[in-house]
Amino acid sequence: MPQKKKRLLEIARDAQKNAYAPYSRFAVGAAVLSSSGKIYSGANVENASYGLTCCAERNAIFQMVSAGETRFSDLLVIADTDSPVRPCGACLQVMVEFACPDSRILMVGKQEILEERSLKELIPMAFIPGTEEKKG
Ligand code: THU
Repeated sequence: MPQKKKRLLEIARDAQKNAYAPYSRFAVGAAVLSSSGKIYSGANVENASYGLTCCAERNAIFQMVSAGETRFSDLLVIADTDSPVRPCGACLQVMVEFACPDSRILMVGKQEILEERSLKELIPMAFIPGTEEKKG
């Protein structure tokens, strides 16, 4: 596995340990590589009011944006699933906001098999940022 992916995997796995998931007991970790080359990570954070839960992928992206960066080249997500875990629809739409045209999404389960897709493959008909801008 290339060094860049190995590093993302290690950092996402570390973040997964910090998941706050007392309701689902499903711990998720994510790591994003920003276009400047820095890595930001996140875990899922749940709430007694279930709908307030925020997924690992969004928490990692929001860390990046909060640090002043708005583009990522790669995002890796990991959970203890039999097959590589899939990001939810809400997270995919957030990825569309901050991805580059060639961003790669890397998905990992409890085996170390890494499945890699483009964002276009995962959300082919996303709402495109800028669509809502008023003309004139
Ligand atoms: N979850 C994530 O963090 N990322 C995903 O890709 C799927 C779901 C979280 C949300 C919730 O805390 C738990 O997993 C169960 O849905």
